[in-house]
Amino acid sequence: MLAAIGSAIGLGNVWRFPYICVNYGGGAFLIPYLVALFTAGIPLMILEMGLGHKMEASAPVAFRGTGKGREWVGWMAVGVGFMIICYYAVIMGWCANFFRYSFNLAWGSNTEDFFYNQFLNRSANFKDVFSISGPILAALLISWVLIILCIWKGARSVGKVVYLTVPLPWICLVLFVIKGLSLPGAEQGIAYYLTPNFAALRDSSVWLAAYGQIFFSLSIAFGVMIAYASFLPKRSDIVNNAFIVSLANCGTSFLGGFAVFATLGHYAHNLGLDMEGLLALHPDKAKGFGLVFLTYPTIISQLGRAASFFGAVFFLMLMTLAIDSAFSLVEAAAAAFMDKYNAVRLKANFGVAFVAIVIGLVFTTRAGYYWLDVIDYFMNSFGIVAVALLECLVIGYFYGTRNIREYVNSKSEFSIGKWWDVMIMFVTPVILAISIALEIKARILGAYGDIPRWVEFAGGWSVVIALPLISILLMRSRTRRPA
Ligand code: PFF
Repeated sequence: MLAAIGSAIGLGNVWRFPYICVNYGGGAFLIPYLVALFTAGIPLMILEMGLGHKMEASAPVAFRGTGKGREWVGWMAVGVGFMIICYYAVIMGWCANFFRYSFNLAWGSNTEDFFYNQFLNRSANFKDVFSISGPILAALLISWVLIILCIWKGARSVGKVVYLTVPLPWICLVLFVIKGLSLPGAEQGIAYYLTPNFAALRDSSVWLAAYGQIFFSLSIAFGVMIAYASFLPKRSDIVNNAFIVSLANCGTSFLGGFAVFATLGHYAHNLGLDMEGLLALHPDKAKGFGLVFLTYPTIISQLGRAASFFGAVFFLMLMTLAIDSAFSLVEAAAAAFMDKYNAVRLKANFGVAFVAIVIGLVFTTRAGYYWLDVIDYFMNSFGIVAVALLECLVIGYFYGTRNIREYVNSKSEFSIGKWWDVMIMFVTPVILAISIALEIKARILGAYGDIPRWVEFAGGWSVVIALPLISILLMRSRTRRPA
C-alpha cells in the first residue's frame, strides 16, 4: 500500500497540481478538483484495486478475466503508462542535474536563460531531434539505473525502497511549507490559492483539467493500481485502502500547494507586484515547468548561507517523489509481460527500460522540451481519459459493476453502496465522454498551443491512434499462460 501511495504521490503533486491551479485561476480549481476526486477518482481507484485483487493479475490479464476480447483495454492502460514513463524519467533526470547545480547555485541570477539556453540548449523549433545533450542523457541513464535497482526483485524490493522514498519527500515538503510561509509576501500567494472564484466554475475547461489531473495524480488508468492490488494479500481491505491512497495523495497536493503558492507570493512581493501582476508579466515563472526550474531556483538563491542546502533538499525531494511513481509504471508494464508471456522479471524490466530509453532520447535533444510538452498533453487529455472511459464501460456494461462491488464489499470493513455503480455506469463515463468530445473539437478548430499540424500528428495523434492498434495486436498474440 505504501508503494501505491508512492506511485500516486509524485511530480504531479508538487509541480503539476499547483501550475494547473494557477492556469485555472487559483482557488477556482479546488472545487472541481474535489468533485472529480469523489465522482471519478475514488470510484475508479476502487474499481482498479478490486479488479486487480480479484483477478490476481496485471491489467491485460485482469481484463481478459472479465470476458473474451477485452484484454486490449488493459494493454491500452499499460501503453499510456509506458509513453508517460518515457518522458517522466527525463524530467527526473532534469531534477538530478539541478540537484548537482544546487551545490554551487550554478543557475546564477537569470534562471530563465540558464534553464532554456544553457541547460536545455533549446532550439528554435521542433526539427532539432538529433542533437542529444550529454548531461541530460547521462542523467536519464542514471534515473533508469535507479529505477531498475528499485524494482530488481519486484514487490519484495519495492516494499523496502518505499520506506525511504515515501516519507522522505514528505518531510522535505513540510520543511518547504514552513519555510515558504515564513517568507514575506507569502500571504498573498496563499490568499490567491484559497479564495474560491465561483464565476470560473462555468468554464468547462476547468472541469476537464480537474478530471485529467485527478487521474494523473492518482495513477489511475495506467494499469498501475491493478498490478499493485494483484500483489496484495488475499485478506486486504480494498475499500479502505482505496480511500487511504486517494486521500493521502490529494492531501499531499493540497499541502504542496501551500509551499508553492507561498513561494509565488514571496516572489511577487520581491518584484513589487501582486499575484495578478506576476501572472501577467511573468507567465513562464508561474506555469508549467517554469515553477520548478525557474522560480524555485530564483528563490533558493536568495536564501543566503542556507541556499545550497535548500536547493539540494528541494531537488532531492523531487527525485524521491518521482522515483516511486516512475517505477510503478515500469512495474505495471513488466508485470503485464510476465503475466501474459511468462517472461522472467529481469528480461521484462530491461526490455521495458531499453525501449523507453530509446524513445526518451528524443526528449534529451535540443527540441526535446517541445516534444515532451506535446506528448504530455496528448497522453493526459486523450490517452488517460480514453482508458478511464473504456474501463467504466467494460465494467459498467459488460462485466457488471455488481461483480466488483460484491467482491470488494466481501473484503472490506466499510461496504460501498449502489452510489458506486451510478458513478461507474453514468456519472464518470458521461463526464469523460463530454471531455473527450470537447477536446477533439478544440483540436480540430486549432492545433494545441499553435504548434505546426505535422508535429501534432507526429507527436500526438499518431501515438493516440497506434495505442489501440498495438493493444489489439498484443491481445491477439500467442500467450503462454492459459486464459
Ligand atoms: N501519479 C504520479 C504523479 O502524480 O506524479 C504520476 C504517475 C505515476 C502517473 C504512475 C501515472 C502512473 F501510472
